[in-house]
Amino acid sequence: MRMLITLISAGVLTGVAAAGPQADDYTMGASRQVDPKEERGAELLAPFKRELKNALLEGMAAGPAAAIDACKLEAPAIVARLSTDGAIVGRSSHRLRNPANAGPEWVSPVIAAYLADKDGWQPRVIELDSGRTGYIEPIVLQPLCATCHGTDLKPEIAERLAELYPEDLGTGFEVGDLRGVFWVEF
Ligand code: HEC
Repeated sequence: MRMLITLISAGVLTGVAAAGPQADDYTMGASRQVDPKEERGAELLAPFKRELKNALLEGMAAGPAAAIDACKLEAPAIVARLSTDGAIVGRSSHRLRNPANAGPEWVSPVIAAYLADKDGWQPRVIELDSGRTGYIEPIVLQPLCATCHGTDLKPEIAERLAELYPEDLGTGFEVGDLRGVFWVEF
């Protein structure tokens, strides 16, 4: 646990250090100084988030059961396609639907920290022992998501999910709950 806390605070410290040299740059106004690594992480995640959302919305247009199939096929394909040039993207959760989404080991301590403190639901930069950088953002459950991750699933959805994901832990969430995280390592 100690190492995990060190990793997390290292990320926080990086944010502070990066703000230092620009502290007298008034052109930024009163806004928070952004760590360049945080910016890079957000930039790397942007197409991933956009493509997942498009796949979901296209699937939903054909009905939720078809959308489950779309997520099952498309999500891993999008991860594979966008994990290039030394950057690896993914989604993870403390309650996984697909066990293959577990992610690298630095991810779960951050999820635990998010769960422990809702006020800390901001993106984080994590300096990894490998010298690489991790960037992570919380994913909050929205009403649309409850169709397949909520507490009260329609029978045809529950059945399709049980067929495809026999070990599904990704249900029972309420709107506003932490569903999981987007992460990228670069
Ligand atoms: C049509 C059903 C459906 C809807 C609606 C849906 N999801 Fe999912 N979700 C899935 C399926 C299926 C997977 C597993 C995909 C895979 O195999 O990687 C999944 C996986 C995930 C994961 C990856 C972690 C895990 O448990 O495997 C996250 C995070 C997630 N969904 C968040 C959301 C959010 C946030 C929304 C709303 C914006 C949402 N989902 C809407 C079906 C859905």
